[in-house]
Amino acid sequence: MKTDTEAGLKLLVIDDESQNLGLIESALEQQELEIITAADPEVGLALFLEQRPQIVLLDLMMPKISGMSLLEQILATDPATEVILMTGYYTAESAVEAIRKGAADYLTKPLDIRALADRISKLIAERRLRRLALDLDQKLVNAFQLEGIVGRSPLIMDVFATIRRIAPHFRTVLLTGDTGTGKELAARALHRLSPASGKPMAICNCSALVETLFESELFGYVRGAFTGAAHDKIGLFEYAHQGTVFLDEIGDMPLAGQAKLLRVLQNQEVQRVGSPVLRKVDVRVIAATNRDLRALVQEHKFREDLYYRLSMTEISLPKLADRKEDLPLLQRYFVENFSMQYGRHISGITRRAQALLARYHWPGNVRELENVLGNACMMVEGSVIDAKDLPPHLRKVPERSDDNQLLSMEDVQGRHLLRVLEQVGGDKSRAAEVLGIARSTLYNMLARIAPPEKAKMHLLP
Ligand SMILES: Nc1ncnc2c1ncn2[C@@H]1O[C@H](COP(=O)(O)OP(=O)(O)OP(=O)(O)O)[C@@H](O)[C@H]1O
Ligand SMILES: [Mg+2]
Repeated sequence: MKTDTEAGLKLLVIDDESQNLGLIESALEQQELEIITAADPEVGLALFLEQRPQIVLLDLMMPKISGMSLLEQILATDPATEVILMTGYYTAESAVEAIRKGAADYLTKPLDIRALADRISKLIAERRLRRLALDLDQKLVNAFQLEGIVGRSPLIMDVFATIRRIAPHFRTVLLTGDTGTGKELAARALHRLSPASGKPMAICNCSALVETLFESELFGYVRGAFTGAAHDKIGLFEYAHQGTVFLDEIGDMPLAGQAKLLRVLQNQEVQRVGSPVLRKVDVRVIAATNRDLRALVQEHKFREDLYYRLSMTEISLPKLADRKEDLPLLQRYFVENFSMQYGRHISGITRRAQALLARYHWPGNVRELENVLGNACMMVEGSVIDAKDLPPHLRKVPERSDDNQLLSMEDVQGRHLLRVLEQVGGDKSRAAEVLGIARSTLYNMLARIAPPEKAKMHLLP
């Protein structure tokens, strides 16, 4: 998004009919806009590149370069530009093509001057709101985070509250949640907000440990305990004395290890392998898993007593799909971080790209979002992340923007028709075939959606 000042908004009109240029200029003179005009499309493109207007009004039929190819060039240069196409010859195909290419609107000539002025003032208002929202987001990112866990949804705020409440007191905590929901982040937050924050935090990934090494890793060993034990070694529990042990992927801990762990939790004592001595340790234990421990208990793969001991204090991290309200904030946070990391100036994400992010179901949760945005920040050519910078599987998710709107059957049919038409590249016969209706019905429906005499479509919600 451009950081245009309110006074700095520019609108470029490109139309080979010069009387139209005058007409538009006078229609928009009330608005807080600097208006630039060009009667020649090549001059228009040069002006665009030089002046970088935020809004472009573009005639579709011009000599030398067509409006459609200008649209492409403009959006390739700056995808955040709002381009409105104008044409004297409305066809559903060209409207659909314009949607696909990313036009903000499509107006027919002769221009309805009042409607045009109205549309432009709405665009200006939208841009201002969006900029306000961006500034606000920046403040929110600072306000709505706990030790690097970013979010403002009621679900994540509950997590923050629980972490704050138990951090000063806990002895054991179980963190559950799907992959990428932030369990490790939550574990670090718990440690940092606990009285043990100045002491070490030892991390053990239970799924990476071979069963035979498990005990010596956690509890240590003495010289000669087994072949290769050339000297004494302390385990993670002793290392983290007065601090915290984080047992990640606890669902993968072998049963023998579980029994020993339970004893340590009960007695706060460890025994190095090969030594008869019991040593007192003062540790907080955080365990995490993305598996269903209760089911593992049923299958006798996880000790029931250990499960009850751990789950007395459980914090469950919500899926990203259940808290999509956090997306704008998380996007802002990651884009900022990656811009800094890659030493690039990336100012935001286009509406089209945001819509794709909002539509996706995020099975990999926040980690997946982080990866997607990390890649986008690395690949993006300009300063704004657009739909093309996102991976193909995100672009393929079907649009469900109708979800929260109250629509009539006719609206739904109309939108579906346009969508099908878009997918078949504007081929009406093919679209009629796909929809299972007669071509004449399709024409009638199209005429109802966009009556040719005042065809005006808002191509983006
Ligand atoms: N709410 C959040 N705000 C900011 N970053 C987050 C948030 N949640 C997760 N992340 C980031 O997403 C990535 C994955 O988080 P984390 O490693 O804590 O997930 P996990 O729940 O432990 O996943 P797994 O079960 O796969 O180990 C990390 O880079 C983390 O920084
Ligand atoms: Mg993890």
